[in-house]
Amino acid sequence: MANVAVIGTQWGDEGKGKVVDIYAEQADVIARFQGGNNAGHTLVVGGRKTILHLIPSGILHENKICIIGNGVVVDPSVLLEEIEQLRKGDLFPQNTKLMVSERAHLIMPYHRSIDQAREAHNSGKKIGTTGRGIGPAYEDKAARTGIRLIDLYDEQSFREKLHRALEEKNFLLKGLFGQKPLDENEIAAEYLGLAEKLKPYVADTSFVLDRENKNGKKILFEGAQGSQLDIDYGTYPFVTSSNTAAGNASCGSGIGANAINKVVGICKAYTTRVGEGPFPTELHDEIGEHMQKVGQEFGATTGRKRRCGWLDIVLVRQAIRISGVTDLAITKLDVLTGLDKIKICVGYKTPAGDYTHAVPADIRILSQCQPVYEEFPGWKEDISPARKMDELPPNARKYLNRLEELAQARISLVSVGSGREETISLRDPFRD
Ligand code: IMP
Repeated sequence: MANVAVIGTQWGDEGKGKVVDIYAEQADVIARFQGGNNAGHTLVVGGRKTILHLIPSGILHENKICIIGNGVVVDPSVLLEEIEQLRKGDLFPQNTKLMVSERAHLIMPYHRSIDQAREAHNSGKKIGTTGRGIGPAYEDKAARTGIRLIDLYDEQSFREKLHRALEEKNFLLKGLFGQKPLDENEIAAEYLGLAEKLKPYVADTSFVLDRENKNGKKILFEGAQGSQLDIDYGTYPFVTSSNTAAGNASCGSGIGANAINKVVGICKAYTTRVGEGPFPTELHDEIGEHMQKVGQEFGATTGRKRRCGWLDIVLVRQAIRISGVTDLAITKLDVLTGLDKIKICVGYKTPAGDYTHAVPADIRILSQCQPVYEEFPGWKEDISPARKMDELPPNARKYLNRLEELAQARISLVSVGSGREETISLRDPFRD
């Protein structure tokens, strides 16, 4: 029996929601370990669409423990809204538990204000953030001026921390960004009120994970965003503010690294990106439009159109390396149906004229890299009814075989449509 981490191998939005939902059914515990409500999973249950930004998608299943780990930055009002939305829709089973780490850092109103003001101030040089205050919250965590969930339960100390934080934040908001300063008492009242409502969910989640692990329960670590948004290995500075690599499942949830036995890398059959930053295989033609339209490539959090392009195996291989990916889940293969030719980027021609298989650390170089492609014949048949590899058209199989060879990781799942059942399952990562 294994514990499994699921991570995105590209720029996020690889279709993790559907795969996590399939694996969550088999898991006992589902834990998030990084990011915040910049993520977005669209789940369709009984024909009704629910978008979760913070709560692990396992919440919809019976008899699970869903954990928001210490590595996540939590906006308490968003968390409560999601809980209420789930309860109202009768989507939160009574025997499923939700727990939030008492050590999780809070997203405060000034984090949102600074995130948005900075982006507006930097027009022309913006990151294209989701504007949810994620970066500024992680900044304060690293600066040791952050406020954690546990702090809300000691009013005096919370008020002192808030006062100190606001001295600095209001100076920045007023002095640099020309904005109205934020009111300390208003924020304190709001957050103390939220704290009361959140109390039943606050826990020492590291302890819970350890207990469940020792009891032989299956744990699914649910990554958010993708490898190219990792703060160390992504296209810095056009990244998110946490490590999205699988190793962070350990630090961000408070469990030993050896508790993570398998890593499933989600890889879309093409590439998308929201926000700014280099994207070597981006397409600005009708093929890119096909991917955007057929794949319904709009951000689940901000509704922005996603940029689209061919699959870039150079990036995926880097993700496999830094996260120790053992299994690949290929998603949205059906979106490529109908294209005459399909390409995979297998290397880059650098501005100096060299050929490389590595992702340059300098994004100015990456931006000037020319993708080198292998080309494959497409297929016209509807692949959504396929449930086994040999039910796929020969050209789709050839594409997947070559992908597997180039990635040097085995494919364990192929998604051929948005429905849960539109899936080819080759292996169960919790067992095989
Ligand atoms: P932030 O995480 O809001 O600071 O945004 C930093 C970058 O990460 C921006 O390019 C965002 O578009 C991107 N980003 C953040 N979360 C996601 C996600 O869940 N999917 C895809 N891109 C994301």
